[in-house]
Order: sequence, then C-alpha cells, then structure tokens
Amino acid sequence: MAQLYLAPMEEVTGYLFRQILEKHFGGVDTYFTPFLSPVSGRSFKTRQGREFDPAHNAGLHVVPQILTDDVDACTEMIGILTDLGYPEINLNFGCPSGTVVKKGRGSGFLRDPEGMDRFFERLFSLNPPVPVSVKTRLGFADSAEWPRILEVYNRYPISELIIHARVREDWYGGTPDREAFAYAYENSKAPVCYNGDITSAAEYGELLAQFPAMHAVMIGRGAVTNPGIFREIRSGAVMTAEELRAFHDDLYRAYVNLWGVKDTLFKMKEIWGYLGDRFPDAERAKKHIRKCRTEAEYLAAAGELLG
Ligand SMILES: Cc1cc2nc3c(=O)[nH]c(=O)nc-3n(C[C@H](O)[C@H](O)[C@H](O)COP(=O)(O)O)c2cc1C
Repeated sequence: MAQLYLAPMEEVTGYLFRQILEKHFGGVDTYFTPFLSPVSGRSFKTRQGREFDPAHNAGLHVVPQILTDDVDACTEMIGILTDLGYPEINLNFGCPSGTVVKKGRGSGFLRDPEGMDRFFERLFSLNPPVPVSVKTRLGFADSAEWPRILEVYNRYPISELIIHARVREDWYGGTPDREAFAYAYENSKAPVCYNGDITSAAEYGELLAQFPAMHAVMIGRGAVTNPGIFREIRSGAVMTAEELRAFHDDLYRAYVNLWGVKDTLFKMKEIWGYLGDRFPDAERAKKHIRKCRTEAEYLAAAGELLG
C-alpha cells in the first residue's frame, strides 16, 4: 500500500476542507496545503495566518507548500513554518498559471534547469531544518525535457519527488504520461509519488499494479468529486449518499461561519465544479447551483442533488 496524499488545490483544499474530510472519511496520510508565495522580510497575510495556524491543522499530518524562485524568501519561510512545528516543506515546480510562469516560478522554473540547479545548490547549502520535497511536472512543453530535469533533482537531497505526470502546456487536460513517469520511477534518487487523474479505487489499484514499489499517490480533483476516495482505497468502504450529505452540510456551515454567505456560495460553486461529476444526469440542478445568488436558492439546489 502506497502512502495517500491529498493534493494542494488553491481555493479548494484549505484547512476547513482538510479538517472536515478527515473528520468524515480520513484515510489520508498527508495533506498538502495550497501554495504560499513568500516575500522576504514579511510573515503571513491574515488569510495565510489562518491557514498555517497550528491549531487549524492539529491532529493532521500537514505539509505546507511554498512557491518561489527566491532562495532567501524560501529559507525565511521554511524557518517560520518550522518554528510553527511543520515537519516538512514542499516546493511547487508545477503551477502552470501565466503570471507565475512569467516570473520563472512554478512550472516556469522547468524551462531553466541551470537556474533550478543554482536554486537547489544554495537552498541545500543553507541546511534546511526539515526535509524538503518537490512537486513537479514532467517538463514545460514536452516530456523529452524530463531526463535533464530529473538529473538536476537527483543531485540534491530532496526528500520526495511528487510528479504530476503532465507538462505545463497540458495544463490539466490530455492524458498523464505514464511512460515519462516510469522513467522517474526507475531513475529518481528520491522516493516518488504519482499524481494525475486518479479518480477511483480501481484506478489506484491499476496504478499500483504497474508500479508496485510506489512510495505515494496524490489525489486532487478525484478527492473533491469523491471525498471518501482515500477511505475507499484503504478499506473498500464506499461513501454513501448520507455520508456525502453530512460532509457537504458540515463544510457549508463551516464556510459560512468563516466567510459569510456570499463568499461561501462562490467557494461551493467551485467545489460543485468537481462534485457535480457525481450527478451526470442532473444538469438542471447543477445549473441552479451555478446561478444561485442566495442561501435559500443554493440550499434548495444542493438539496435536490444530495437528497
Ligand atoms: C483548482 C486547482 C488548484 C490547484 N492548486 C495547486 C496548488 O496550490 N499547488 C500545487 O502544487 N498544485 C495545485 N494544483 C494541481 C493539483 O495539486 C494536482 O497536481 C492536479 O490537479 C493533478 O492531480 P489530480 O488529477 O488528482 O487533480 C491545483 C489544481 C487545481 C485544479
């Protein structure tokens, strides 16, 4: 059995989502936070303070993710997070967003293996106080770039390589490249974690049959569509309709308490972008969710789907 990780998803897998998933289903070994972009000399903004408040992550194994190309800002933030008690830090080398890429960060870093080399050389020469793992894609435009990128990663004591088996130009579409992933499985010095399009216990089983020594599997969108997926992979217990309803109601209430109704509706619409896949024949109710403006409208539409 590989370790199971919840993927970081900006605006989706924040601390309330993580806590409520853990409470209702569990089965996750490690929760990764959505990325934090540190600025040298500055600590957290209010919202980040909430996200990384140890009280909000108590009882869960949570790994903060940092996105930067600035070693000093990165090192300072690793210090702050380590002082708060986080046991590991993850670095983002996968974000495909245009603004991030333009700055040479996230997947933009992958276009510059020499720059990556300099970044890691300096970072590891400063002896980070906790293990540092990397979440990466297979390249920027083409997975032919991958062996060169892996060569850089292999030079450093990276604790784990989490591989979203796509290149930046794929964004989130197309089919993950298992062949290029297999190259990492064979040649990575660090233990590898597979990420990309695992949406059922059966798909997890097929993946592990292909890569039996896999260290970990990370699931993102599949866990928003089915928050019970980790428990199901572990024990075979499939999420029931009642369990989904209880999870949803808990999440909705927690969001309203923190954000108020307007922002909560925005966030729930985002979640329904994935959860809605469970209800392929319910276009009308899903449209009501997308269009709703009030709590009453939202609850009526969600209730139609959740029973
Ligand atoms: C809405 C959204 C937000 C995401 N935010 C992050 C992020 O903050 N950090 C990160 O490393 N990956 C982020 N990702 C990528 C996911 O972690 C994951 O690599 C990707 O969705 C593929 O896995 P999946 O097919 O299991 O979802 C995001 C993906 C989505 C769809």
